[in-house]
Amino acid sequence: MSLNGKFITFEGIDGSGKSTQIERLAENLRGAGLDVVQTREPGGSPGAEEIRALVLRGAPDRWSAETEILLFTAARRDHLERTIEPALAQGKVVLCDRFADSTRMYQGLSRGDLRATVDSLHALMIGREPDLTVLIDMDPATGLQRALSRRTEDERFEGFGEELQAAMRRGFLDLSREFSERFIVVDGNRSMDVVADDIAVRVAERFS
Ligand code: ADP
Ligand code: TYD
Repeated sequence: MSLNGKFITFEGIDGSGKSTQIERLAENLRGAGLDVVQTREPGGSPGAEEIRALVLRGAPDRWSAETEILLFTAARRDHLERTIEPALAQGKVVLCDRFADSTRMYQGLSRGDLRATVDSLHALMIGREPDLTVLIDMDPATGLQRALSRRTEDERFEGFGEELQAAMRRGFLDLSREFSERFIVVDGNRSMDVVADDIAVRVAERFS
């Protein structure tokens, strides 16, 4: 099996190294001659980037959890239609920084149990899962420190602190067991090079 037309997502708490490692895997796959599209959520298409600004800026209580589910799902639908599906149809490898698993965690868990609502809306409006999800598992305090050290204006959630990071870490590990057929869990508490090599080997194994 080849990597052409495969959809690979990266998940993990803020500051776990997702953007860094997507960049590294993209370089590696391009070096192997693959056509790679790097994208992110929320965002990844012009319309979804506009929704990103709405949802990630402003006061922490700007939106209810339910409204956030709708906004993230609207952004995802546009991203899927305009960026992800066309690229996959052309046989490109799509590497995406966060996807529906982030909504399952952040909106589904952090303010009450809304997981069933997230899953229903996902089934109705998105209806697709990645071929592979790389979970970068990370000590919450270190992740938060890293995230805060490269602070941008998209910080509505980072203001929520270490307790949320710890809950999200546990939630992502639970999710990796729930969807064990598509998840690989990588230890992010190591140097960037070691993590990048580990991911490259395990992605190649998965699709060989
Ligand atoms: P994420 O996209 O998951 O929020 P980033 O890739 O943006 O994480 O990394 C957050 C910060 O931590 C960046 O400043 C990055 O350079 C740094 N970083 C990423 N991976 C490592 C690592 N393995 N060791 C030390 N610092 C790292
Ligand atoms: P991101 O830009 O990936 O932040 P980071 O690089 O710090 O990980 O994501 C921004 C924030 O959006 C992040 O705190 C997680 C949150 N988020 C949700 O709450 N729900 C979602 O569905 C997605 C995709 C992201």
